[in-house]
Amino acid sequence: MTPRKVSKAIFPVAGLGTRFLPATKSVPKEIMTLIDRPLIQYAIDEAREAGIEEFIFVTSRGKGALEDYFDEAPVLEANLKSKGKTDLLKILESTNMDSGAIAYVRQTRALGLGHAVACARRLIGDEPFAVILPDDVIQGDPGCLKQMVDAYQETGGNMVASMEVPDEATPSYGIIDVKEDMGNMVSVASMVEKPKAGTAPSNLAVIGRYILSPNVLKSLDGQTTGAGGEIQLTDAIAEQILLHDDVYGFRFSGQRYDCGSKAGFLQATVAFGLERPELRDELRAFLEDVVSVRGAAE
Ligand code: UTP
Repeated sequence: MTPRKVSKAIFPVAGLGTRFLPATKSVPKEIMTLIDRPLIQYAIDEAREAGIEEFIFVTSRGKGALEDYFDEAPVLEANLKSKGKTDLLKILESTNMDSGAIAYVRQTRALGLGHAVACARRLIGDEPFAVILPDDVIQGDPGCLKQMVDAYQETGGNMVASMEVPDEATPSYGIIDVKEDMGNMVSVASMVEKPKAGTAPSNLAVIGRYILSPNVLKSLDGQTTGAGGEIQLTDAIAEQILLHDDVYGFRFSGQRYDCGSKAGFLQATVAFGLERPELRDELRAFLEDVVSVRGAAE
């Protein structure tokens, strides 16, 4: 049986973003800009490309700027039109969302990613859904979620994006215990969130893209706190295996940047900057200069 179409995506954006303090005192992490677009715009574009039609944001106190970002800007548009700035107008219009395509639900306390996803349960109902963490930015063609949606048409079940990480990084991720390795896909025997150093069952880490069955929402209902004292999405997905529903790890093709960390955000800025024709030459010259000056000084 062909799995149902994935047309809804949850964007959990209610975290505290403490790694970016003090900026995140007033600026939601997801609205911070990579070159000239907020992180959330990259996530939205990836979701649209994958066929997502309903966008559900799990927000919290202090995320007003993120909600405003999706409003149309008639005054700005009229101004650009009157000045004949059609290029900018086009860029602005590309960010417009259909009325009614966006919903916001509130996570009143940051109890963890699993809890954030569970907050959207009434809007998901009884159909498969995607989850996108906007601070994982992935350069891919097609985008990571589109690759996953295509693969999901063959497998059904549950699917998590995955990538190999070095040994020392395993305590920072959900890690997959592989049942069978089929190349760009693995079937999952179990998953463990943030294993202690030296105890990870593999180096295959879960990163921020998921396609999940609505059963995961039921499992989240009964979930107690896991690693880090938070309600973990990984634990609810792992429970599906015990309930005899398949879970697959999908090795996407593309480059992922952890924009939830400062180093990852800087790397993404450089990589995306070097992709832009109007920035490439100047940025490359600057980087070469900085590296050679630093190298000479050391
Ligand atoms: P992170 O742990 O990376 O984000 O959560 P954080 O908690 O905002 O950041 P730090 O660690 O304090 O710097 C991954 C994703 O899950 C969301 C976050 O907004 C982010 O998109 N999240 C996390 C929630 O929506 N609610 C939570 O309770 C926790």
